[in-house]
This record gives sequence, structure tokens and C-alpha cells, in this order.
Amino acid sequence: MWGEKVKDTCAVILAAGDGKRMCLGRVKIFCEVLFKPLICWVFENCKQTGISDICLVCSKDGLGRLKDYFGSGAKYVIQEEKLGSAHAAAQAESFLRSGGKKDVLILLGDVPFVDAKTIADAYVFHESEKNEVTVIAANLENPFGYGRIVDDSGRISIVEEKDATQEQRKISLVNSGAMWFRIEALLSVLDKIDNNNASNEYYITTAVNLLSKSGCYIASASHVILGANTNEQLLHLNEVARGKIIAAHNQNGVEFLSESGVVIGPEVQIGKDTRIFQNVTLKGKCQIGERCVITPGSFIENATIGNDCEIRASYIEDSRIADGVRIGPFAHIRPGCDIGDAVKIGNYVEIKKSVIGNATSIAHLSYVGDCEVGSKVTFGCGSIVVNYDGKNKYKTKVEAGAFVGCNSNLISPVNIGKDSFIAAGSTITDDVGEGDLAIARARQVTKPGYLRQKRGNNNP
Ligand code: UD1
Ligand code: MG
Repeated sequence: MWGEKVKDTCAVILAAGDGKRMCLGRVKIFCEVLFKPLICWVFENCKQTGISDICLVCSKDGLGRLKDYFGSGAKYVIQEEKLGSAHAAAQAESFLRSGGKKDVLILLGDVPFVDAKTIADAYVFHESEKNEVTVIAANLENPFGYGRIVDDSGRISIVEEKDATQEQRKISLVNSGAMWFRIEALLSVLDKIDNNNASNEYYITTAVNLLSKSGCYIASASHVILGANTNEQLLHLNEVARGKIIAAHNQNGVEFLSESGVVIGPEVQIGKDTRIFQNVTLKGKCQIGERCVITPGSFIENATIGNDCEIRASYIEDSRIADGVRIGPFAHIRPGCDIGDAVKIGNYVEIKKSVIGNATSIAHLSYVGDCEVGSKVTFGCGSIVVNYDGKNKYKTKVEAGAFVGCNSNLISPVNIGKDSFIAAGSTITDDVGEGDLAIARARQVTKPGYLRQKRGNNNP
């Protein structure tokens, strides 16, 4: 959409910092906002703007994982020593010199919401003002920790929290860290940046202070520029993203009884008139149909769910659920399931890597794994597909219309024929033919007067 505007540009994402302020055992850029690592938000924003020439400045520790995410979609340079954001940008010098582009977008790996529209609009401003640098900024109610923007009759400079005077700390206009530079201008000042500041770091913001043709593009909403330096800020980012996503679904006709505990990832689609209760998590790539009901305690990840389904306090992972299906309460649909129309899966049922045909009912206390189940099959209470012998897994097929009685075991691999019957309590090891009845349990033995006899023997 914005590709044409930014065609003569490239981007450098600074992502080598260790996130010392977070007290975490992992690299900061991999911390997640709504299950998505910070760096993925930043990278996707950049891509959506239409910038394809992207260089990531990263630490040795982060490189492998970044390559897993972005592969050949980015170039990678390592910053060996963490000497500050300008030092990080300087690692991309040969990328900047050899790319033949006019302008570069610098993005910070811990600032996830600078979106494509903001970036593109800032670039239009940067071009029209003929700036050497344009800083994307916003006013924050609590600007603590951010670089403050000092405007000296149109020419701006940035002063970091630690270096700011009391007066400067009162400034609410802050630096997002996202900046458009004319490449020539940035390269001309990179080696002039010193580390004479409270942190003894080489700041990229000093480059702004050294250039005379600078300007500031104010983002349309303040949350756009929020960053994550502390755990508290990371939690706040999650809350901001969560609220915005819920509001967007709500506007599209999804009904929420309460926002409380509802967490919906950025890649989730929900059809209209679906009702979502409190304490529901929808994670990863989920597609939920129209007029569904999802009740508290449900956790759905990478699943496609059709229309008119009812998911009650259940877990569903990496599976497809068709239309009019009822699941739960307290069911677990594990990865690899394909559940047909109007299926009923009741309480304490676990299904794994199985195809379940239309209108089949597995209503209570069952396990069905590695199984192909036809339509209109009934699994009675407590019936189990025994798919694992301690070493290998085997497949079982239950054909359409079969009736599997309560508390029976189907020892895989076994074939249960169409419209056949399995008597309750059976342990089935052999195939059952179409329309047959299989009974595989010991015949009942009743010993009349057993108690009387026992008492009689003990007390003659
Ligand atoms: C930075 C800005 C500040 C801005 C804020 C917005 C500087 C000097 N300050 O401060 O003006 O308001 O972001 O959130 O830039 N990094 C490296 N190598 C390093 C140091 C940092 O790659 O040696 C990367 C980090 O991974 C991070 C980014 O640069 O993604 C910013 O570093 P950080 O330490 O978070 O800077 P802030 O203090 O947040
Ligand atoms: Mg930061």
C-alpha cells in the first residue's frame, strides 16, 4: 500500500541490546506482546510499509532465532560489544553504503507499535521537509525513561532521561527511537558521536543533535511509540495491545461479556455475533466463525472453528472444527484433529490426531487418538482407543454408524465396521464386521448366598 512512497529506502533494526533492566534470562527482543516476540512486531511493521531491504543488528545469542523467523528476508550483522545504539547502527555501515538507497529507517527492536501508516506518513513528511533526519515522536503523560525532544525553533535535539536537567525532564514530547535518516547525512556523523554521557554509551540520538536539518513527526496516538525496557512496560504493552484488539473485534460485531482475562492474539479472526465470555485465550493463527459461544476457561491455539459452535471451558490446539460442533466442558482437542459438522464432544474427553465424522458423539470421559471415525458414530461413556503399546502408535478406524458401548477399549490397530455394535465393557482386539455385534468380556459369574456362607464359615 505504501510501497511506492518508500521505494528508495531501506531499514536498520537495532536489536542487539541485552535488556538488563528486565531481569530476564532471555534476550529482550524475544519477549512477547500477545504471544508475538517484540522483534516480530517491529519486523512486520517494516515489511508492511513496503520496505524490503532490511538489516538486523543483533547479538550472537540472538542470531540463530532471528534467522529462524526471517530467513533470507533480512540481512544480519552482529554487534559484538554493546556500546550503545549508535554503535549498533554503525555495524550496518557497509549495508548502508552498498545498498544504493537514499534514506534509511532506523527502528528499535523493543518498540513494537510504530505501525506502517505512521512510518510511511513520517517519510512523506521527511521528504517534503527535505530533512536530514525525522524523528517519530509523541507526547506521553508519563515520559519517564524516554529521550525528550528539545525543539529549538524547528531544529530538534534529543536528551536522554539520565542526562536531562530537571526542566528538560518536564518535557512530554518523547523520542520513539524510530527515525528516518538521509543515509549520506547519517554516515557523515556516525564517527563524530562520542560517549560523553551518563551511560557512557554511543547514542543514536546524538546523530540527531549533530544534524542541522532535523524535524519531528508526531504520531497520531501516543501508544504507537511505547517501548519495553522494564517488565512493567512489557506488561503495559500487552494490556494496550489486548485492549485495542478486543475493541476492534467488538466493533466488527463480536460480543464480549467482559474484557476481563480475555487475551486475543493479533492473528485471530472472529466472525460476527460470536460471544466471548471472560477468561478466554485465543492464540496464534485462529479463525473463529460466526455465532459461536466460547465460555470461560477456553484456550484455543492455531485452530479453525466453523459457525455456530459452542466451546465450553476447553483446550483446542492446531485443529479444525467444522460447523455446529459442541465441545466441553473440560475437553481437550490436541493437535491434528479434524472434527466434522454437528459433532458432540463432551466433558473429560481427549481427542488427538483424529478425524471425526459428522454428527458423531463422544460425550463423556473418552480418549480417541490416531483414529478415523466415520459419521454418526457413538462412543459411550469411558470408551477408549488404545493407540499406544508403550513403544509404537497404531491407527484405528471406526466406520459410520458404529455404536461403541460404555467402558470399552479398542486395541489399535483395529477396524470397527459400519453400523456395528461393541458391547459395553468389551476389550476389542479383532476387527468387527459391518452390522456385527462384538462382545469381548468375561461372562458374569454370580455366587448365590456368598456372604451368608462366608459368615457361616467364620462363626460356626
Ligand atoms: C532509546 C532511545 C530513547 C527513546 C527510547 C524509546 C537511545 C540512546 N535512546 O532508549 O531516546 O526514547 O529508546 O524506547 O537510543 N541496542 C543495540 N545495541 C546497543 C544498545 C541498544 O542493538 O549497544 C538496541 C536494543 O536492542 C534496543 C534499542 O537499541 O532495541 C534501544 O536500546 P535501549 O537500551 O532499549 O534504549 P532506551 O533506553 O530504551
Ligand atoms: Mg528501549
